[in-house]
Amino acid sequence: MAHSLRAAVLLSGSGTTLQNLLDRSRNGKLPAQVVLVLSNRADAFGLTRATQAGIATAVVPRKDYATPEAFGTAIFARCREAQVDLVCLAGFMQFLPIPDDFLGRVLNIHPSLIPAFCGQGYYGHHVHEAVLAYGAKVTGCTVHFADNQYDHGPIILQRTVPVLPGDTPDTLEARVFEQECEAYPEAIRLFAEGKLRIEGRKVAIDGK
Ligand code: GAR
Repeated sequence: MAHSLRAAVLLSGSGTTLQNLLDRSRNGKLPAQVVLVLSNRADAFGLTRATQAGIATAVVPRKDYATPEAFGTAIFARCREAQVDLVCLAGFMQFLPIPDDFLGRVLNIHPSLIPAFCGQGYYGHHVHEAVLAYGAKVTGCTVHFADNQYDHGPIILQRTVPVLPGDTPDTLEARVFEQECEAYPEAIRLFAEGKLRIEGRKVAIDGK
């Protein structure tokens, strides 16, 4: 088992992904301890989940900063203070410039097979609505290193699910989320074990 990392989770909404990470961590299934939950929204239910779990929280509203860079600086200052090894974006709906010392240490999960159905405006339910409207036959989720563009950095892993006749955005979201619950912990485990190497756009996984 890899040593346990200190992780920050950044979110804007209900925190379902945070909850999955907390549950896995508690069961000893994740080599990471969430030590800080940050949100750009004071009303994010994910903050309540964090408080209930005894985790420190902070709210950093985007409107308090003149530029995206100043906003990113404020967010990562909190992460540095908390001495985190890793930052996990988990439904964080703001553009977030990443300072050099955190590049390669910020992961994102997106509920589609990047580069399809991703980028600005594609989040949560909107993604699954777009997949159904387009008539795609498969979709899934992607865990990737975040860089300084939306849903863009090198891909660590992807999991697929079928789109079935009669699917609604809700049924599809639930099927994809089941896979997200496996994919994010797996990527964090690979990171903690030092098995991920970024080579340009590609991520090499030791032993694979
Ligand atoms: C994540 O699990 C991911 O599917 C999606 O938000 C979920 C968490 O939201 N992220 C994106 O769409 C990022 N572009 P929640 O905190 O509201 O449950």
